[in-house]
Amino acid sequence: MKNSFSFIACLCIAVLVVSAGCRHENTACEDAQMRVYIDRLMAQMTLEEKLGQLNLPVTGNIVTGAARESNVAEDIRRGRVGGLFNLKGVKPIREVQRIAVEESRLGIPLLFGMDVIHGYETVFPIPLALACSWDMDAIEQSARIAAREATADGICWTFSPMVDVSHDGRWGRISEGSGEDPYLGSRVAEAMVHGYQGTSLADSATMMACVKHFALYGLVEAGREYNNVYPDDFHAFNEYMRPYKAAIDAGAGSVMAAFNTIHGIPATGNRWLLNDLLREQWGFRGFVVSDYTALEELQENGVCASLEQSAIQCLDAGLDMDMVSNGLVSLADAVRGGRCSMQQVDAACRRMLEAKYQLGLFDDPYRYCDTTLRNSVILSDTHRAVARRIAGESMVLLKNDNRLLPLSKRGTIALIGPLADTRPNMSGTWAVAAVPEHYKTVREGLQDALQGTGARLLYAKGANLMYDAQAEAIATMFGREMRDPRSAEAMRAEAMNIARQADVIIAAMGEASEMSGECSSRVNIEMPDAQRDLLVELAKLGKPIVLVHFAGRPTVLNWETDHLPAILESWFCGSESADAIADVLFGDVNPSGKLVVQLPRHVGQYPFSYRQYRTSRPNTGGGFGKFSTCYADVCSHPLYPFGYGLSYTQFEYTNFFLTDSIMPLDGKVEAHVTVTNTGERTGAEIVQLYIGDRVAKGVRPYKELRGFERLTLQPGESREVVFTLDADLMGYYEPYNLTWTLEPGEIEVMVGANSRDTQMLLLNVKQ
Ligand code: NOJ
Repeated sequence: MKNSFSFIACLCIAVLVVSAGCRHENTACEDAQMRVYIDRLMAQMTLEEKLGQLNLPVTGNIVTGAARESNVAEDIRRGRVGGLFNLKGVKPIREVQRIAVEESRLGIPLLFGMDVIHGYETVFPIPLALACSWDMDAIEQSARIAAREATADGICWTFSPMVDVSHDGRWGRISEGSGEDPYLGSRVAEAMVHGYQGTSLADSATMMACVKHFALYGLVEAGREYNNVYPDDFHAFNEYMRPYKAAIDAGAGSVMAAFNTIHGIPATGNRWLLNDLLREQWGFRGFVVSDYTALEELQENGVCASLEQSAIQCLDAGLDMDMVSNGLVSLADAVRGGRCSMQQVDAACRRMLEAKYQLGLFDDPYRYCDTTLRNSVILSDTHRAVARRIAGESMVLLKNDNRLLPLSKRGTIALIGPLADTRPNMSGTWAVAAVPEHYKTVREGLQDALQGTGARLLYAKGANLMYDAQAEAIATMFGREMRDPRSAEAMRAEAMNIARQADVIIAAMGEASEMSGECSSRVNIEMPDAQRDLLVELAKLGKPIVLVHFAGRPTVLNWETDHLPAILESWFCGSESADAIADVLFGDVNPSGKLVVQLPRHVGQYPFSYRQYRTSRPNTGGGFGKFSTCYADVCSHPLYPFGYGLSYTQFEYTNFFLTDSIMPLDGKVEAHVTVTNTGERTGAEIVQLYIGDRVAKGVRPYKELRGFERLTLQPGESREVVFTLDADLMGYYEPYNLTWTLEPGEIEVMVGANSRDTQMLLLNVKQ
């Protein structure tokens, strides 16, 4: 569709690019070609049409198929819509795109976005679980498959990755991120962006990423959703900003502003954040979209008195696209009246058109609308097999006394619990495109695994999620109701009867999927009451019990740890969870996941992270010590530390050395360690490198992750892992001027299987 005019212009400009190498010439040529194309298009656009490009309205009744009749359709015809989101299905999307292309004056195609957070119809583990695999190739592959499926269904833009670091298990959205560590979070952010966007957005099997929620959303005070955040810059940059920056450096095409305020100004209308930091300092060239109705919420925040004022402030701050508020699209009078700058409208419009150009929508507006792809691509056997493997890698084995696991496929197994046979819960929170009817329940997964073995699987629900029906209704929103009308006593009696007949009990319990995710903050993060009471009764039978624990957040598992021999943290591992749980329980897969959030002993420990900064009155043991930093009533250490997870085999760490004990500031030193599989099964180990900077201008954590490697070792096999240490790897953002620095002094270099169990050597950094 793009005409020869732009091609000729490009040739002329390319001729001017004399000094750069071939690759740069291509990029410069592409940029120049895009610029010419968009200049020409914008020259034809009215002010209203330009503002229309900034508009991402709620999709509304267009979803029902009445596209031609809906208001949204009329707005599309009038050029007042830039894109739509969470509309599912290639056919309706194609039809809506047709309206934009054929029935609007300039025929500018729409962007179709969606919350493709952890897969499309093939659903991968929730991001918190996925990160527990520490497998960057797998994470990238999950995003690539998500892109492959979503683009086959008309979507070209995903509201992912969510890279908000959080130290607070009360916050329900901790499920959507990669946990508590900025280094690991940055690696995951890069892998996700590469997975979604591939090497080129021009490939119609890739989609544009949107890094969110920029910035610092994971810091909401007291873990309460939509609350304010109060970071100081030193901690903001050292703890929270790095994954956003990593995603942007990896080439993410768009950014979503967070709901929260920063320095007292809502992120959506925060010029320091969106312009000074993101664009000027970090060099971001894509577009920024608001979160849902965030623009109009500047009035709730009390910083603006009208929608027009909010829109002017947000546009001035650097916001390009307005999700749902209809604020930017209504700015025409403000521009004409001189209250809003035309230049800013032009800049935002240009960025929106550039995104469409990069996605190839001007070449072919229907390039994501091939209606023949769906059947062969979406939920394919290959995709499901990958998802099953990754689900198995993401679960974390927390406890396994006397090697109760893996279970053998014989005898009588009792499967008990409200999460054992509930299909809609399997995919986990925020899986917009999920089709639960195609997924197995745990019961079905185990049944299939035991097929033909002679082992007997008995099942009882045993309890509702919780006693309080109203609380359960909140916990099972969005059509995931699962309440059993029977009395608690009747359900428990049935379960006890089943359990008495069994050799081993598998308890599928914990949170329902909507107990985490957006607006699911909780202060009680223990096993819900009805389930705990059932577990107490089951434990009295004295039979071996394996807890398959569902959760979308870190939870408190004190009682379970004290009374049950085996605990598998199965999180919510997506569409293939059931088979993957069976794979792990029966030993077809050896668990290898490690925690990316430590598990507390008490909710009162939040905010809580292994990245504990040095304090003036340290406490080493975690117990009470008068005038040291501690609690009088609970050990301040976690129940399960960051980086922790068991395997069915064992690993030994030996021969840890540094190639030098002294490193010049601009030099490099290597840390070597040999890891051996000393057990009898093949297994994967995640070898972790931590540093502790003993002396620095700004207080540093005792331990901070700065490297990791995932290894698969055969029984008896050893491998040497080498980490290269230098100022880039070991630095930090120093106080006030926030430049990345490494100062001379002693650094503890630690390696180990988790953040608690490490070996340490000292490295002296010299001027
Ligand atoms: C609100 C959420 O905060 C955001 O993450 C999501 O992408 C949008 N809604 C759109 O669904």
